[in-house]
Amino acid sequence: MTLNKKFVDQFVNVTIKAASAASHLVGKNDKNAADQAAVDSMRTELNKIDMVGEVVIGEGKLDEAPLLYTGEILGNKNGPSLDIAVDPVEGTNFVANNLPGGIAVLAIAEKNNLFNAPETYMNKIATGKIDKGLIDLDFTIEKNIRNLSDFKNKDISSITACILDRPRHKKIIDQLKDLNVKIKLITDGDVLGALYVSDSKYDVDIFLGIGGGPEGVLAASALDAFDCHFQGRFIFDNNQDIQEAKKMGIDDLNKKYELKEIVKGDSIFCATGITNSKILNGIRFNNNEIISETLVTHKSLNFKKIVKKINLINE
Ligand code: FBP
Repeated sequence: MTLNKKFVDQFVNVTIKAASAASHLVGKNDKNAADQAAVDSMRTELNKIDMVGEVVIGEGKLDEAPLLYTGEILGNKNGPSLDIAVDPVEGTNFVANNLPGGIAVLAIAEKNNLFNAPETYMNKIATGKIDKGLIDLDFTIEKNIRNLSDFKNKDISSITACILDRPRHKKIIDQLKDLNVKIKLITDGDVLGALYVSDSKYDVDIFLGIGGGPEGVLAASALDAFDCHFQGRFIFDNNQDIQEAKKMGIDDLNKKYELKEIVKGDSIFCATGITNSKILNGIRFNNNEIISETLVTHKSLNFKKIVKKINLINE
């Protein structure tokens, strides 16, 4: 097994360090500084790992460095070739404004197993484990909600749908309202938004709507470990994005991707809380200790846990 337990421990350490670095910028009203602190930390820590890790989902292109750019090779080159997807601070507004939901995230897979997602929007749909063919991006909102309500044996009025609060979602939100669905609007952070479907304790039955494509791939890696349902379709609505997609070898611009096409084989996902959220507590400092919570999933070992850790500040 290429992605063994040693890697899991090392990648958890990477998101803990990135979250700790960003946590010093919580509430400082400077999202770029928070992002940069997490980026710098992630790069330093990832470079210590025995791998040839290629960033397939990063924070821009080479000319936008010093972000962790797509195509950047990380690791000490003494190990396997891996694909890396990073979002050093997911929910930059949350961190800048000291609001719940900021996380440091990464996903890892063996080479060529993580979808090389363009930096465009993606139309997404996610639910917990369901029967094949029940919920589909191509179905109407009403059909998906009715199917889910039948499958879960739950009245439509107690089905909760999570969606980003954006003007582009007005039509979907109106339809959900007409169906009498419980709507959970989130202002940002659709990685966590999608992850709410992974456990009934978060009380979200379906996540849907348009958010970042890279965030879709990250969420898919964790949802895979929970055997959840996920589909995504990239949105290419301007010439530059269309050209970029073609360069990346995407011929069918309207293709609907199933989870297994986005994340193939084994993968590891780590998300450490920077600020508190329903899923993870944020970083806390206690004397010379850093207290963190990380959602860790490892598909092949069927490992999915919130790992609480106490590290010494200078460790
Ligand atoms: P950042 O952390 O990069 O600011 O992204 C936050 C986020 O809410 C993502 O979770 C989501 O996928 C995307 O922005 C939605 O984009 P937009 O704000 O343009 O609707």
